[in-house]
Amino acid sequence: MSFFTNEQTIFFVDDDAALREANVQTLDLAGLAVETFSDAQQVLPRIDADFPGVVVTDIRMPGMDGLELRAAIHAIDPGIPVVLITGHADVAMAVRALHDGAFDFLAKPFASDHLVGVVRRALAHRALILDNRRLVTAVAAIDSPLIGESTAMLRLRETIMQLAQADFDVLIEGETGTGKELVAHMLHRQSRRSAASLVAVNCAALPQDLAEAELFGSDLVDRTTGKLGQAGRVRSAHRGTLFLDEIDTMHLAVQAKLLRVIEEREVQPLGAGAPEPVDLRVVAAVKTDLMDAVRAGTFREDLYYRLHVVKLRIPPLRERRSDIPQTFAYFLDEAAAKMGRQGFQIDDSVRRHLVEHDWPGNVRELKNFAYSVVLDLPSDPGLSSMPADASLSERLRRFEATIIHDTLTQTQGNIAETMARLGIPRKTLYDKMQRHRIDPKQFRN
Ligand SMILES: Nc1ncnc2c1ncn2[C@@H]1O[C@H](COP(=O)(O)OP(=O)(O)OP(=O)(O)O)[C@@H](O)[C@H]1O
Ligand SMILES: [Mg+2]
Repeated sequence: MSFFTNEQTIFFVDDDAALREANVQTLDLAGLAVETFSDAQQVLPRIDADFPGVVVTDIRMPGMDGLELRAAIHAIDPGIPVVLITGHADVAMAVRALHDGAFDFLAKPFASDHLVGVVRRALAHRALILDNRRLVTAVAAIDSPLIGESTAMLRLRETIMQLAQADFDVLIEGETGTGKELVAHMLHRQSRRSAASLVAVNCAALPQDLAEAELFGSDLVDRTTGKLGQAGRVRSAHRGTLFLDEIDTMHLAVQAKLLRVIEEREVQPLGAGAPEPVDLRVVAAVKTDLMDAVRAGTFREDLYYRLHVVKLRIPPLRERRSDIPQTFAYFLDEAAAKMGRQGFQIDDSVRRHLVEHDWPGNVRELKNFAYSVVLDLPSDPGLSSMPADASLSERLRRFEATIIHDTLTQTQGNIAETMARLGIPRKTLYDKMQRHRIDPKQFRN
C-alpha cells in the first residue's frame, strides 16, 4: 500500500441499479471502499487531480456514455485509471478505448475475482502516480517555493521538473507578475546546467544598436578606450541557461542572429573571424501570445517555431482563484517575519474579497498587497488579526489606486502602455482612473 495515499476509493458508475448492487457487494467483500453513481454527471464534480481512487464505469448509459466520461475525467487528470464495463457486442469499442487511455475493460459477464483483480491493479497504479507527483512536488519545493496547490500549479511544477532535466529550449508564456522569471530560475536550478550561470537579458531594455554586441559579443577593439570587445551574454551563458525576457520585443536583425545560435549552437561575435561553439539552453519569456507578433510581422516565424517546441503557460491568478488565500497567507507570514511582527490570521470575509479580486498584476500584486497590509498595521500585538471586511476593501481600493498611479508614472501617462502593463481594457482603466480621481495628463511632460 502506498506510503502517501490514504482512502483509496472506487467510484462505480452504472445506470442499472441491480448491477450496481451486485458489484458493490463484491468489492465490499474484498475490503475495498466503493461509492456508486447512476450517471456520469453525478460523478464528474467529485473528480479532481487529488482524487486518490479509480473509476469503474459502464459504457452504455443514457446521457454521457462511459467513453465520454473517460475523456472528461482525463481532461481533469490523465492519471486517473478508468475501467470500462462493456457488453458482449462492445468489445471492439472497448479495445479502441484502451488506445485512447482507458486503464482496462471488463466484458460482461465477468467473474467477481476478475473485477477485484483489475480494480486492485488500477488502485496500485493510481497510488504510484500520486506518490510520484508528491515526490516531484516535494523535490521541486525544496529548491524554489512556487506557491499554489491548484491543479494547474501542480501540473506546472511537474512539467517544470520534467523539462528541467530534458534540456529542451522552453518558451514561457504568462501575464505580468505570474512568475515567469521564477520559473526560468527553477528550470535552470533543476537542470544539469545548474553549476553554470543563468544569464538574464531583458530584450525590451536593449537598444537596437547595442543589442548585437551585448548579446553576441564583440572581438573589436574599442577605439576610444582601447579595450578589447566584450564577451556578450550568449558566451557568458556557455554551459548554462540564457533567459531572454520579453523576447517579442527583440529586433528582427537580432532575431536572425539568435536563430543561428539556436539552430547551430554557435555564436559569431562582432569582428570575429569564425563562429564559436556554445552549449546553452534558451529559456524565453513573453507576456502575450508570441504568435500575435508573428502575425504582425515583428517576430520571425522560423524563430517562433524553433522556440515554441515546448511551451509553458503560467495561468494568471484569476484562473486559479483557489490559490489566492494560500499565496496571500504565505506572503503575509513572510512580510510579518521580515518586519518582526506576529503572524496574521485572515478571516472568511477577507478571504472572499481577495478571491473575488482579479489581480491584474498577479502574484506580484498580491505579494505587494500583503506587504503593504503588514506595513500599514499598527505593531500593537493585540491587533495582529487582519482587519475585517470594510477596511480591507478600502485597502484594496487604495492599493489599486497606488498601482495605477505607479504605472502611469512609469509610462509617463501613456494610456496604451498602462493598459498593456496592467492587463486591463481601456474602459476599465478609465473607469478606475475616474473613481480614484487620477488624471493621466498630470503624468505627461
Ligand atoms: N507561484 C508563485 N509562488 C510564489 N511566488 C511567486 C509566484 N509567482 C510569482 N511569484 C513572485 O511574484 C513576483 C513576480 O514574479 P516574476 O518576476 O517571476 O514575474 P514575471 O512573470 O517575470 O513578471 P513580469 O512579466 O512583470 O516580468 C516575484 O517576487 C516572484 O517571486
Ligand atoms: Mg519577469
